[in-house]
Amino acid sequence: MAQDVFDDVKDMMDSIKMETVSDADALEAFRIKYLGTKNIIKPLFGQIRNVPNEKKKEFGQLLNELKGVAEGKYTELKNDLGGSNKKKNFDDLDLTAPPKSLRVGSRHPVSLVMNRMIEIFGRIGFEVAEDREIEDDWHNFTAMNTPEDHPARDMQDTFYLLNSTSQLLRTHTSSVQARTMTKMQPPIRIIAPGRVYRNETISARSHCQFHQVEGLYVDENVSFADMKQTLLYFAKELYGSKTEIRLRPSYFPFTEPSAEMDVFMGTADEKSKRLTKGTGWLEVLGCGMIDPAVLDNCGIDSNKYSGYAFGIGIERSAMQKYDISDIRLLFENDVRFLEQFKSAI
Ligand code: PHE
Repeated sequence: MAQDVFDDVKDMMDSIKMETVSDADALEAFRIKYLGTKNIIKPLFGQIRNVPNEKKKEFGQLLNELKGVAEGKYTELKNDLGGSNKKKNFDDLDLTAPPKSLRVGSRHPVSLVMNRMIEIFGRIGFEVAEDREIEDDWHNFTAMNTPEDHPARDMQDTFYLLNSTSQLLRTHTSSVQARTMTKMQPPIRIIAPGRVYRNETISARSHCQFHQVEGLYVDENVSFADMKQTLLYFAKELYGSKTEIRLRPSYFPFTEPSAEMDVFMGTADEKSKRLTKGTGWLEVLGCGMIDPAVLDNCGIDSNKYSGYAFGIGIERSAMQKYDISDIRLLFENDVRFLEQFKSAI
């Protein structure tokens, strides 16, 4: 007999745990059945007297547990019902409302111009080569015919790594020339886009970091005329088919002869006037025939091979292309600025 009442209580506990309700009426029925004034748990307390004395305490605890389970289940069912009611309530959902617009990202103007240059040179067989920004002295300077104490080192103010005289932030992508030529033999036809660093005062026109696209072509019988033709093709692709260029003699330790290439912008509008300081000519890149000493430094036979190289500044082209008057805007990452460059060039 005593065991029977224990089992009755346990059975009831199990069935309470299995209860489900589908609406408020069913929930109320559950409350009346197990927790109301005439609930079916109450009479079980009357059974205590039929339980042997030594089991009375245990039975009392079981009944209290049953009450607790019923109360817990009621709260659970009530919450579930509230939640699903909310889900089913579509009253405040306006299906005709316009959707929230997605914020689509855009490419950085420097990347846009860089990608365009990669594409232009890619079409005539130049492959992309990339290498490290933390460079050693040899690849950045010495191999490029700029040994220590060479006055040309002053042309590019260098950031050295802390406590180091040989590890530096590359001052130009020309270091990739050395990296490439020490690894492979001609024919070599690569462009190396990337970031470079110089210890320069930051202003509207110059920054301590900027980007270049380096070009390198080494093979038998490469001439200055080949270089000029390639650069003219590049200028026409980037600036338009009527573009004129001029090559001015210049000096770089790693090229001989060296030149700087200007593109004619004209002086018709204010923008071109400002950008070209009134001359109409915009300086775009440095170039030249690779100095034989550089080829030899990198393990390429300068008696057999010749080549040309060029280094294009990307920021200046981007500023010209998008009419950006301050180079610092390119490095601040202000979304209001960046959002303006949604379209590819
Ligand atoms: N490295 C040079 C610079 O940063 C540019 C250059 C590259 C010139 C290749 C000639 C040949 O100014």
